[in-house]
Amino acid sequence: MATVLGMISRKGGAGKSTITKLLASAFAFTDHKCLIIDLDPSKDIVNWWVTANETGYADKNIIVRAPTDADDLFDLVSRYEDEVEFIIIDTKGEGSSWAVDLASVSDVLIVPCMNAKGDRERTKETLEWHQDLKRRAENPDTIPPLRIVLSRVKPNLLTHVRGNPKPKDLAAREFERHYEIIDQFNPLATMVPEKTQYREMDELGPLGAVLTKCRDSEDKNEKLKAFHFEAALAHAITLVNNIFDDRRMGDTHGA
Ligand SMILES: Nc1ncnc2c1ncn2[C@@H]1O[C@H](COP(=O)(O)OP(=O)(O)OP(=O)(O)O)[C@@H](O)[C@H]1O
Ligand SMILES: [Mg+2]
Repeated sequence: MATVLGMISRKGGAGKSTITKLLASAFAFTDHKCLIIDLDPSKDIVNWWVTANETGYADKNIIVRAPTDADDLFDLVSRYEDEVEFIIIDTKGEGSSWAVDLASVSDVLIVPCMNAKGDRERTKETLEWHQDLKRRAENPDTIPPLRIVLSRVKPNLLTHVRGNPKPKDLAAREFERHYEIIDQFNPLATMVPEKTQYREMDELGPLGAVLTKCRDSEDKNEKLKAFHFEAALAHAITLVNNIFDDRRMGDTHGA
């Protein structure tokens, strides 16, 4: 029976599709079969997969499907749940009635949150929606847990140790907000860094396939690129592990 991860955020551009691609890359590279269901009408994931097939970066461990008139979310989940180990559901950036369907099929809901005022407000609304869903449920244990992931974190914040002075090239408000968001939402311990490799993944295909091509290349620059893709993939695998071991930033405070 597949484990289902539902991406949700009321804010467009928060990083849902990027995290979907990261998780699929990590599952595929570690030889776990996964299905991505693209619920976003803009079809970001479907288009990504078309490109990956065209550029030769597709991975046989990843299947991509979008619902059709004949095949809704529930049909797709039940059709594939015994065929794949993981199902990732990417959604569009606004709250809607589908959010309840998403919660009903997911084992965990993942909410990316960027360091911006609007993202913080929308994340708070998503959390309130989740709490309300639990309150209204006959059995609250049937509602999947919701985990916040800090998305697109600048490298100087990624390596910053709390209590140390602000990195020089970072705005004071951005610095303060980073820790305010951590205290407010207690996100997963693993953040998603801002990385050029994640943009390249958008244009090429899953990280593991790109890494393998770079490694196999005779070109020195491509071989060098392989180191960066290896780090990007390692980070994606760490995120997957963190989703399942559920370590949160708050767990380490005051330890
Ligand atoms: N960690 C990251 N590093 C570099 N670029 C990123 C990162 N996360 C997101 N981006 C870029 O930001 C843009 C928006 O990200 P993404 O498409 O993942 O957001 P989304 O939540 O799926 O948006 P939408 O609601 O429109 O579907 C994309 O161009 C993506 O490449
Ligand atoms: Mg998207």
